[in-house]
Amino acid sequence: MTAILGKFDRNQLEYRVGSNRPFDNSISAIMKKLFALLALVSVAQIAAAADVVGNAKAAENKVAMCIGCHAIAGYKATYPEVFQVPMIGGQSAKYIESALQAYRKGDRKHPSMRGIAGSLSDQDIADLAAYYSQQK
Ligand code: HEC
Repeated sequence: MTAILGKFDRNQLEYRVGSNRPFDNSISAIMKKLFALLALVSVAQIAAAADVVGNAKAAENKVAMCIGCHAIAGYKATYPEVFQVPMIGGQSAKYIESALQAYRKGDRKHPSMRGIAGSLSDQDIADLAAYYSQQK
């Protein structure tokens, strides 16, 4: 214990006096590694945020909650009343995505669409937009 303490004291003293170059260098090496790590982490986070790519295949088990109102994907017209609900199949993915984001944020007010969109993640929205934009 005293041996460790003694060593520690001497290191501190040497550090204060500035005569221990290797000790200085090892601190800056650690700092450099830390900064490099931080830079990596933030790059990874940016990449993750920009990486919400719609996957139509992944939407196939998410559309169940849309079909009841927006008709079966691929059908243009079912009943006359269905025209009350916009056809979303074949619209651009960007448009569908921004519409769903707007319902989720509350910029679009329709209550049932707000309810639905509120339960969707960014990934869900991207997947659904990809899916519906590929319908004819
Ligand atoms: C309860 C019925 C209902 C359900 C379920 C439903 N929608 Fe809707 N949706 C509507 C209605 C009604 C509108 C028109 C609302 C308005 O006037 O803003 C609409 C509008 C939309 C729009 C905007 C269309 C446009 O042309 O501006 C999109 C996109 C959309 N829905 C996608 C979906 C998706 C994706 C799902 C499934 C996750 C879904 N909806 C589930 C009834 C529904």
